[in-house]
Amino acid sequence: MELDLKGLGKKDMLALKNVKNERRKIIHDSSADPIFTQFLANEIASNLHPTIQYVKVAEILEAGKSAKTFVLIPDIDSGTKKLAYFRPGQYVCIQIQIEDGIYKRPYTISCSPKKAMDNKYTLTIKRRNQGIVSNYFIEKVKVGDTFSISGPKGNFYYEPIRDAKNIIAIAGGSGITPFISMAEAVMDGILDLHLTILYGARTKEDFLFFHRFEEMKKKSKRIQVEYILSEEDDENFISGFITKELIEKYMHKENSYFLCGPLSLYEKMNVLFKELNIPNKYIRYDSFFGRIDLNRNEEYNLTVLTGGKKITILCNTKETLLSSMEKNGILAPSQCHVGKCGFCRSKLKSGKVKMFDDALLEAEKGKKYIHPCATFPESDVVIELPF
Ligand code: FES
Repeated sequence: MELDLKGLGKKDMLALKNVKNERRKIIHDSSADPIFTQFLANEIASNLHPTIQYVKVAEILEAGKSAKTFVLIPDIDSGTKKLAYFRPGQYVCIQIQIEDGIYKRPYTISCSPKKAMDNKYTLTIKRRNQGIVSNYFIEKVKVGDTFSISGPKGNFYYEPIRDAKNIIAIAGGSGITPFISMAEAVMDGILDLHLTILYGARTKEDFLFFHRFEEMKKKSKRIQVEYILSEEDDENFISGFITKELIEKYMHKENSYFLCGPLSLYEKMNVLFKELNIPNKYIRYDSFFGRIDLNRNEEYNLTVLTGGKKITILCNTKETLLSSMEKNGILAPSQCHVGKCGFCRSKLKSGKVKMFDDALLEAEKGKKYIHPCATFPESDVVIELPF
């Protein structure tokens, strides 16, 4: 190939000729010390987004009917000195060994991020049907116990660039935890927004953080909470379900809607949002799906291909493929446990499964990919893990 030097003047040619000497001089003058590789930016990034944090239970507080709040501090002996900052609404994924199984479960951080600056997180955990890890925490975990958690994850948080300042939060049962964190952050001056929480539960006893919310309501006009009881009557609370009129009561000119609760709540709210002509772009969902068909109780073989091995275990129709792998000590990749992050994505080699439609990305559909954390067996199944 011929070099086209047209357009280059004599000065350019001389400058080009000097490049070699200049380069030599720079190399000659530079320090002989090893190249610096630990940059402050990397250090800050790993403090903000650690892959793993070792924590110790410092305190356990009763948090209502069958629920406890666990105050966590860094487990310095295992190497964690500082807990990462988080945004209200984010979760951490706990990894814990229970008998022969290694389990990972996401739990929303239930305090204000200000606590993280004081090196503390709180997780509020409620006993659940079939909840191996939740029930283990309620019954067995004690002060001084240690375990590991991920860095803060998830994008169920208020984002000023995207969200309106008037937030209507709709919570069902233990789906209240992201909103107590947001409310605490408003009280601490970390979040600048107006938060109305429409909080549904079966009975009065099921409301978590009731007294704390009442305290906040008295102290700040920015926090409002309405309690809706579905299975109990009490003149101090709204009976029945969240209605269109109740949502309308708290709507401003611009609003964002945050939803967290069981599947039934999502289904009901979707109908109401359509009636209110609220576009999807203003609605944010977390996922606390209680989608197990409790009427089925069958067991199938689940064969897992991983790392050149083939392992067959039993999987019940009431549990996800991921949950039965964990119970049998198969450490499958996972993070969110609600079909959203894609960490557990695996190939379905054969068999029939029930997976929730919204658990797959568009690009994954029709390619025999599944998210085992949101998939239940309907026959003997063979899957291949990503590694
Ligand atoms: S663990 Fe996140 S999609 Fe399965």
